[in-house]
Amino acid sequence: MKFREIKNNIYYCGLNDVDRVIFDELIPLEHGTTYNSYLIKGAEKTAIIDTMYPPFIEKYLNNLDENDVKNVDYIIANHGEQDHTGAIPALLEKFSNAKVVTNATCKSNIKEMLLVDEEKFITVKDGDTINLGGKTLKFISAPGVHWPDTMFTHLIEDNLLFTCDFLGAHLPFDDLYSENDEKLVESAKRYYAEIMMPFRMLCKKYADLVETISPDMVLPSHGPLHNKPEFILNLYKEWSSDTPKNMVLIPYVSMYKSVEEMAFYLKKKLESKGVNAVCYDVIEDGLGDIAMCLVDAATIVLGASMVLASPHPAAANVAYIANLLKPKAKFASFIGSYGWGGNLFDKLSDMLPNLKVQIIEPVLVKGKPTNASFELLDKMAESIYEAHKEAGIN
Ligand code: FEO
Repeated sequence: MKFREIKNNIYYCGLNDVDRVIFDELIPLEHGTTYNSYLIKGAEKTAIIDTMYPPFIEKYLNNLDENDVKNVDYIIANHGEQDHTGAIPALLEKFSNAKVVTNATCKSNIKEMLLVDEEKFITVKDGDTINLGGKTLKFISAPGVHWPDTMFTHLIEDNLLFTCDFLGAHLPFDDLYSENDEKLVESAKRYYAEIMMPFRMLCKKYADLVETISPDMVLPSHGPLHNKPEFILNLYKEWSSDTPKNMVLIPYVSMYKSVEEMAFYLKKKLESKGVNAVCYDVIEDGLGDIAMCLVDAATIVLGASMVLASPHPAAANVAYIANLLKPKAKFASFIGSYGWGGNLFDKLSDMLPNLKVQIIEPVLVKGKPTNASFELLDKMAESIYEAHKEAGIN
C-alpha cells in the first residue's frame, strides 16, 4: 500500500483494523479502529512516530519495504501501550542503528513490556528537540492523557502536533482527514468517554495547551487526522467542562420487568418536567452507550433487581465502571425491586466513592411497583427537577 503524503516528506503509514470488535478486552468497538503511524523524512534523518499493534507488524513492515524505506534513525514513542509500540522490537531488528526516542516513564514501560535494551533508547524531557534536517521534533510532556507516560511531539517547521491517544477516535477511515460528521462525533465521544473521561481535568488542560500551540493539524494515533483542529478541540472543551446537561441517565437491570416499569415511568415523568431522560437496559444495550451518556448526564439513577440479597451483578458492573470513569454528574439515586430482601442501595452507593454526587432519596419496592411506588417515583422526579434547577442545570 502506497503511503499517503500529509505534507512535504511526512507520510501516513498506519493501518485500519476494521474487524476488531473489542479493545483491551473491555471496550466494544462499533466500527473497528486504526493504528496510526507516521514517517517523517528530514534532510539528514528519518523518524517514525508511533508504530503498530502486534498482530499487524508483518503487514506494517511489508508496507515500509513497498514504500522503499531503507533507513529509520529514530522511533518516537509518544506512549508505551502496545497498540503503538508493538512493532518497536521488529523495527530495531530491521533498522539496526535506530534509537527509540521517548521520556523516562515511557522508556521504563517499553523496557518491561517489550524487553528492549537500555542502549537502544534516547531519553528526552519536556521541551527537548531532535533535528532531522529541516524538520525539528519537539517533545511535550502530557502525562495523564491517558497514561503517565504520554507525551506529544510537535513538528515545528510544518506545525503538526502528534498527540497519540489524545483527541483520537476508534474509527477506520479511507480519507485521511476528519469530516465534521455525525459518525465521527459519536466515535470521538465514545472514545473520550471510555478512555479519557477519568482524566477530565487533564483533558481540559491539554486541550488548552494544544490550542495555545495552535497546530495546523492534530495527528492522533487512532482515527482520522484533524486538519481543522478546532473541531475536535471544541468537542473536548464541551465534554470536559464542569457543567452537565439537563439529563438523567437510567441504566437498569430488570429480572421480572418491575425495575424496567419503574425506569420507564421515571423517564416519562422527568420528560414531562422538561428534563431529558435516557433508559438503558444494561443486558441489551452494552456499556459503550452508557459511557457516552455519562459524559453529559447531570443525574444517574441506577436500577437493579436483587440477586441473593445483593444488587444484580450487571448493575454492580455499571456502578463499578461509572466509578472508574468519574463522570461529572452532580446527583445520583437508585431504583430497585426485590423478592425476599437484601441491601441494594448501600451496596451500590458504596461502589461510587469517586463520584462527587448528592444522593436523592431512592425507591425500592417488593415485587411489582404499585400506586404507592409510582407516587414515590413522582417525588423522585420532582426532587431531580428541583436539584437541577437549583444547580443552574437547564
Ligand atoms: Fe492507543 Fe493507550 O493506546
